[in-house]
Amino acid sequence: MATPPSSAQDTLKRAVAAAAVNELKHLLDSRTVIGVGSGSTVNFFIEQLAEIRHDFDGAVASSEETAARLKAHNIPVYDLNGVGTVPFYIDGADEINERFEMIKGGGAALTREKIVAACAQRFICIADQSKRVSVLGGYPLPIEVIPLARSYVAREMVKLGADPMYRDGVVTDNGNQIIDMYNFMIEDPLTMEERINNITGVVTNGLFARRGADVLLLGTPEGVQRIER
Ligand code: A5P
Repeated sequence: MATPPSSAQDTLKRAVAAAAVNELKHLLDSRTVIGVGSGSTVNFFIEQLAEIRHDFDGAVASSEETAARLKAHNIPVYDLNGVGTVPFYIDGADEINERFEMIKGGGAALTREKIVAACAQRFICIADQSKRVSVLGGYPLPIEVIPLARSYVAREMVKLGADPMYRDGVVTDNGNQIIDMYNFMIEDPLTMEERINNITGVVTNGLFARRGADVLLLGTPEGVQRIER
């Protein structure tokens, strides 16, 4: 079967993935373990990372899907508990603002993404230009919840002004559920991240403000922009 032509957005995703590999390849040695996120941009990154797989030790994955993809490319996958910290974490975003705060979790991997990001010395965000926003919230904010708490958390989020919607049929890698917050623009991501995390039954929310990105590789039709915080 012929490969379908890639969209303009995929071209930008591929370009930022290549830029990330290019940036990393000068910084790796045989002991380096890289943190790898989840999503379609990261999938392009994994394909290109495979080409330099002999230049580093292996990776820690932020989802079962990423772990499977890494293994399929013969990249060893390690348990984060045994690795401790990773020098680099490469991941995409659903939205990123000027302070490099993000909404993540469109692929439901937010909790593990946040854990690996917390253990990373440097978070390199790879994103096409459609992800750049001035105010977070146009993309519905995901919240991972303990299943028993789903309705309670949704009611608490209504009080904060959101329109919650249950992501039907999705079970996270941790066995939990996702509710997405619609019509919820977030002026102060750091405060909101902590406030939502304080609701009983919330496992994680998709705001990455406390631990945002350090570097943004942004794909544009004019080329990849590298912006450092
Ligand atoms: C996965 O849970 C997400 O956080 C992804 O990083 C985010 O959704 C970006 O995905 P794409 O690269 O597919 O746009």
